[in-house]
Amino acid sequence: MNNFNSILEFINKTPKTELHLHIEGSLEPELMFKLSKRNKVEIPFKSIDEIKSAYNFTDLDSFLKIYYEGSNVLINEEDFFDLTWEYILRCKKDNIVHTEIFFDPQSHIPRGISFDTVINGIHKALTRAHTEFGITSKIIMCFLRHLDEEQCFEVLNHAVRHKDKIIGVGLDSSEKGNPPQKFKSLFEEAIKEGFLTVAHAGEEGPPEYIWDSLNLLKVKRIDHGVQCLQDDKLVEKLRDSNIPLTVCPLSNIKLCVFDKLENHNLKKMLDKGLRVMVNSDDPAYFGGYLNTNLIETAKALQLSLEDIKILIQNSFKSSFLDEKTKNNWLSKI
Ligand code: HPA
Ligand code: ZN
Repeated sequence: MNNFNSILEFINKTPKTELHLHIEGSLEPELMFKLSKRNKVEIPFKSIDEIKSAYNFTDLDSFLKIYYEGSNVLINEEDFFDLTWEYILRCKKDNIVHTEIFFDPQSHIPRGISFDTVINGIHKALTRAHTEFGITSKIIMCFLRHLDEEQCFEVLNHAVRHKDKIIGVGLDSSEKGNPPQKFKSLFEEAIKEGFLTVAHAGEEGPPEYIWDSLNLLKVKRIDHGVQCLQDDKLVEKLRDSNIPLTVCPLSNIKLCVFDKLENHNLKKMLDKGLRVMVNSDDPAYFGGYLNTNLIETAKALQLSLEDIKILIQNSFKSSFLDEKTKNNWLSKI
């Protein structure tokens, strides 16, 4: 068997976890079309092909505009269930045994969709994933950072009512110009309520946003974090504190963070001893789920089997699973 075939086989057969996945970003054009008809919600596309050809982004903001528009077709609990269940079927196919998913309640509440509709639909699908396939999961609620802190406090109150289903809070949406310090009090309150914290930082924004996420928001993981290599002191801090960086290679190419996958800095981060792993972010928009991300990245960066193994191990180590479960999965890789 040649070298790449053995890498492919390893990726396909190894149990994996995913830590950076926006459930609204797993809305495939086919389901978007189906839900637009089912709910009689107009979308600015006439066909599935037209939706797909609109997915040419120049940066994060150009993507977010389409992503929030796509979310408009999600109305009823059943829609959030179907969305999540379709993602779970992809997990099964990719041999993902544990997933930690983000959701964005603030892109639904202003459209008149209740918080409970959203969380209950997602949670019911994840419960079925466990009973039917043994796939485990955690839910992380993201705040939209382009909104003000006051609006985010309102949504935090909803999350408190659903503490049994939500393990943590995160920060997503438009990064540049919306620094972590804008949400310092919000995250302090979330931590007081018992939520773990994570934040998107250093996707397009500067290394200072990573520093501030660590120091002000007390995050357990940095989502993306690829801009950290600009700052040697930060690299040292991330390495010495084993801070996970949930890197999303295909996302970074689609949003023009790097011009091509061959120029992605994942291998450099790995070689510096950073706790990086691969994730799919918004797979319906960025061209692939977890295994496709791993395979394409392995090809472009000529990763070794050992590199892939470390990426998958890092992902389990960085998950919010309990230590015993983590170690059990780690023993199988
Ligand atoms: N970055 C910021 N916000 C997001 C993303 C992302 O990659 N995906 C969905 N919301
Ligand atoms: Zn993301």
